Amino acid sequence: MTTESVQEQSRIPAGPIALAIAVVVLLIDDYTPQEMPPQFLYVLCVLVAVRAHRERTIWRIAVLCTFLTLLGSYLSPPSFDMSIILFNRSTAIVLIWLTAVLVWRYRRTQDTLRHLNKELEARVARRTQELSRAFDEREQLNRDLHDDVLQSLYAVGLELEAGRPSSLNDPGGVIGHIDRTLHQLKHVMQQIRNYIAGFHPSSHETLDMALAALVKDMTIAQGPHLHLTMDPGVSDSLSPEQTESILLIVREALSNCVRHSRAQQGFVTAQGQNGAVLIEIQDDGVGFDPDGAKKDGHGLANMAARARAIGAEFTIVSWPGHGVHIALDLPLQQRGVRL
Ligand SMILES: Nc1ncnc2c1ncn2[C@@H]1O[C@H](COP(=O)(O)OP(=O)(O)OP(=O)(O)O)[C@@H](O)[C@H]1O
Ligand SMILES: [Mg+2]
Repeated sequence: MTTESVQEQSRIPAGPIALAIAVVVLLIDDYTPQEMPPQFLYVLCVLVAVRAHRERTIWRIAVLCTFLTLLGSYLSPPSFDMSIILFNRSTAIVLIWLTAVLVWRYRRTQDTLRHLNKELEARVARRTQELSRAFDEREQLNRDLHDDVLQSLYAVGLELEAGRPSSLNDPGGVIGHIDRTLHQLKHVMQQIRNYIAGFHPSSHETLDMALAALVKDMTIAQGPHLHLTMDPGVSDSLSPEQTESILLIVREALSNCVRHSRAQQGFVTAQGQNGAVLIEIQDDGVGFDPDGAKKDGHGLANMAARARAIGAEFTIVSWPGHGVHIALDLPLQQRGVRL
């Protein structure tokens, strides 16, 4: 049940109740001498209007009570002190209208709160819907990854194993290549399984160890020669989330370098300077036009988004024939780290 419906149900027929109280007060007023101030009880009628269905009931009750206060001064037993009569009656009228204004303000505030509450409920409902949709999509993605991608990779592994020559007949070192490929394939399949199970990859590894392993993994016989240079202490200044994002960005940059650049050399450097970590990935390959290439895949957009998420500045400088230079500049002031 919403707050509004609770509010609606708590409204009462305030008009008739106030009228009944007013009649009682008038009778008391009628039978008490003028020095007595029972007319102050009319305030009760106005207070009852807090629960009235309509706002205008407040003003109607206030007008009625003002009229009855004046009427009471004629009806109740005569008094000789006119100043007391005037003081009592005018104070009662001021009090009635003051109460009416307060009641009106209170109702307005309640209405505003009810309105805000309704908006909040609508927002929460919308957000819950979005979350449940995202959850369904993730479930679907997990199913696809498991039933389609993993099974296909498994089939590729079986094919590779079936085509692996016997160790007696391996003049070109093919077995070594196939074994390394099988090893990488298993690693990829394990990562997909971890993703499906909701684990984040390699968040416990330090950047220097993980980068060294990554560069080694990405080095293939026909690909560019990859070099890694890293300042000591850079790893210690990074949180696990920052380390993980940097690793995924470097992995994509190196994958692009290996797949697209036709470079001879590729360089990964990580330096700490002026309270920031600067990661650079460069190659001397064919280069490309970053603005024109955005629609070709997801890698460039993902790198930029991951950099944004950890508060890093991400730049790609490249043009055809001049290699690629990617820079990731991550300020570390928030962690109080000095490099
Ligand atoms: N180091 C590079 N050298 C030359 N061209 C590159 C390099 N990096 C990216 N590109 C070009 O930019 C394009 C877009 O790269 P992006 O990483 O976004 O997509 P992709 O690698 O083609 O596909 P995906 O990353 O989605 O698997 C590439 O297709 C390639 O033409
Ligand atoms: Mg890519």
